[in-house]
Amino acid sequence: MAFKVKNICCIGAGYVGGPTMSVMADHCPEIQVNVVDINHQRINSWNDPDLRNLPIYEPGLNEIVKRCRGKNLHFSTEVERNIAQADIVFISVNTPTKTKGFGAGQASDLKWVETSARKVAKYARGHTIVVEKSTLPVRTAEVIKEILISAKPSSDQSEPSTFDILSNPEFMAEGSAVKDLEKPDRILIGGENHDAINTLSEIYKYWVPEKKILHTNIWSSELAKLTANAFLAQRISSINSISALCEATGGDVREVSRAIGSDSRIGSRFLDSGPGFGGSCFKKDILNLVYLSRYFGLPEVADFWEGVVHLNNWHQHRVSQLIIKKLFGTLSGKKIGVLGFAFKANTNDTRESAAIQICKDLLEEGARLFIHDPKVNPLNISNDLGISPINKVLESNNSLTFQSDGSWSKASQISEATKEADAILVLTEWEEYSKINWEKESKQMRYPAWVFDSRSILDAKRVINSGLNFWRIGDGTNL
Ligand code: UDX
Ligand code: ADP
Repeated sequence: MAFKVKNICCIGAGYVGGPTMSVMADHCPEIQVNVVDINHQRINSWNDPDLRNLPIYEPGLNEIVKRCRGKNLHFSTEVERNIAQADIVFISVNTPTKTKGFGAGQASDLKWVETSARKVAKYARGHTIVVEKSTLPVRTAEVIKEILISAKPSSDQSEPSTFDILSNPEFMAEGSAVKDLEKPDRILIGGENHDAINTLSEIYKYWVPEKKILHTNIWSSELAKLTANAFLAQRISSINSISALCEATGGDVREVSRAIGSDSRIGSRFLDSGPGFGGSCFKKDILNLVYLSRYFGLPEVADFWEGVVHLNNWHQHRVSQLIIKKLFGTLSGKKIGVLGFAFKANTNDTRESAAIQICKDLLEEGARLFIHDPKVNPLNISNDLGISPINKVLESNNSLTFQSDGSWSKASQISEATKEADAILVLTEWEEYSKINWEKESKQMRYPAWVFDSRSILDAKRVINSGLNFWRIGDGTNL
């Protein structure tokens, strides 16, 4: 029998845990939702009284947190106490790719999942449903199960705790997290025990139509998540490969996308060529599939998926090489204004952003970068690029200069990025960039000046009519 859940604990207050639990709390006022994290700073930010410094930027999230926080949504560092009270514990911690040891560069590091499972094993009381929410390699549920069933009862327990394990992967995308969580295409719940599956389904039924809640076995659920991300990433690598061909042959990738996307079997979404996919999931999940396939003796399958990542890496370098070539083969002493550092619009997340590799390539060539992004914290840019920003120098003629080649500085305004720039490079599709007044900005650039639009969001005619050279991704039509 499904039981009525009164208390939920989510371990991990990150990009997945924070928004998912906020939306759940919003729709389930009778359930107390406690989001816990070992990172005190992150929890303090979630508890920021005026909601200006939430650790995650997602459209619509502030309003939900404002409505629920302190009522049935709580953010805290009291991991143990909240596990003990919970009927359901979601594990939503980070699972980055391993950097060393067996499987380095491909397998996921399950250190944080394992620690969380051990905590649940130790502190949970009575019967607890444990839900894998983080994207995890296939068969991780087995690891969690083993840890949970081998837990010994503590001295205060007359009976050992009992557990059910479910896989309930999250399919939301950043930047549209609230929208995706409110109206998901499907909710996937994988597990062995039907009562546990039904208990979790009952929670989602508060706001998701029953027909959208799919039940599978646990391995299918884990594999479906990796496969969904691999398929999406594969589409992007496919269209990016065609963008290179369009540039070489005189085609236009936007026209090709529209033509193939109107075939209902292909579909029109996820066919925008860009600077290469980023984000915390795509690369990691494909490398996980690659690792699994090799592990299970399927090298051809592994090679197939690995190709998607190779193409993405190649494509990012292709963009930087092209810029270097157009700027006469050298970037030394040249200023490039970079518009956008987040891996896509409407998020402050830079994980695996194409901007990282492209900016590194340009810095290596001696470029002086002025990086603008409306949401990304400059500290993240420093960490990603591995170098701190250089203070801008304001000269007597009111122009801004850098001290040295191969350095970067944060541009707080778009006009700071365009001032005396030899080139502007659009890397993230923030809406404000599509509204730039090129007639005005072009006046303060250094000629011959270039605009590189890796997202196809600029009004080409307006840029060209302002006297600027223009390149955009996948356009071989000689505008
Ligand atoms: C992805 C999946 O979409 C989501 O279902 C899963 O839960 C997590 O991983 P996310 O990484 O947040 O979500 O962003 P997504 O919108 O999928 O974009 C990923 C990358 O692909 C971004 O860098 C984006 O700019 C790029 N992209 C996307 C393109 O280059 N072209 C497109 O047409 C779509
Ligand atoms: P995701 O994108 O998967 O949500 P994030 O890195 O944004 O990943 O968030 C994961 C969160 O999990 C981080 O805030 C991290 O501090 C937290 N975390 C990791 N291990 C533990 C743990 N053992 N207990 C509580 N929180 C944890």
